Amino acid sequence: MIEFQNVSLEYDRRVCALRDVSLSISQGECAFLVGASGSGKSTLLKLIIRELKATSGRVLLRGRDLAQLPGNTVPKLRRQIGFVPQDILLLPNKKIWENLAYAMRAAGHTQREVRKRVPEFLDRFGVLYRANAFPSELSGGEQQRVAIARALINNPLVLLADEPTGHLDPEMSADILGVLLDINNKGTTVLMATHDIMAISKLHQRVVTLSKGMVRGDMFGMGNLSLESASV
Ligand SMILES: Nc1ncnc2c1ncn2[C@@H]1O[C@H](COP(=O)(O)OP(=O)(O)OP(=O)(O)O)[C@@H](O)[C@H]1O
Ligand SMILES: [Mg+2]
Repeated sequence: MIEFQNVSLEYDRRVCALRDVSLSISQGECAFLVGASGSGKSTLLKLIIRELKATSGRVLLRGRDLAQLPGNTVPKLRRQIGFVPQDILLLPNKKIWENLAYAMRAAGHTQREVRKRVPEFLDRFGVLYRANAFPSELSGGEQQRVAIARALINNPLVLLADEPTGHLDPEMSADILGVLLDINNKGTTVLMATHDIMAISKLHQRVVTLSKGMVRGDMFGMGNLSLESASV
């Protein structure tokens, strides 16, 4: 589904955020991306949505080289991918329900579908009671849940989530992890960057560790990777 072949990414000559990364994520897989701050997690995710292009090497999605995609097909690519950015980017001037409705309309859904599906999703993520509020009126954790709901509302093939539990308390964080695993069980490929090593260590899922832009570990569960080397 997702393949990195010897990918390097230099923001400029001094900042090499990824170095010779090779990584393959199969359809239906769930993988967590861990590593110290600055190790390249967000950069790796941004390459998959073509927000960035590899400096060298190739990034493939379902066998297609993303660097070769014409610019006008990038929106179509992004509709297949649910993305929860690290800095929650809800539209500030639109109400919560409108944020979800907007994403659905952009993907070509009808008003009728929007009216049915948006409340269902807000309810599923426990934010239906805030449907008419603006993003700035929600807590960080509530905004995070809306961002996840929005990323999932068009049934993406792949869900990329960058620290989606960063603003959540441990209980809510476990809840969100449960939701993501559930979505994965239903067939969506999930790749999630996180610092929450304690939470994922219990899950026995694939964990890819980045260190200074390189893949340093790739295993099921946390193995004997120390918390220190994975860096919280
Ligand atoms: N737009 C940018 N311009 C220049 N350098 C950047 C840019 N974005 C990120 N970097 C650098 O690239 C490296 C990797 O950053 P990235 O955001 O991918 O790390 P991260 O693993 O997501 O970190 P965090 O856990 O703090 O979110 C860092 O050294 C960072 O300073
Ligand atoms: Mg990041």
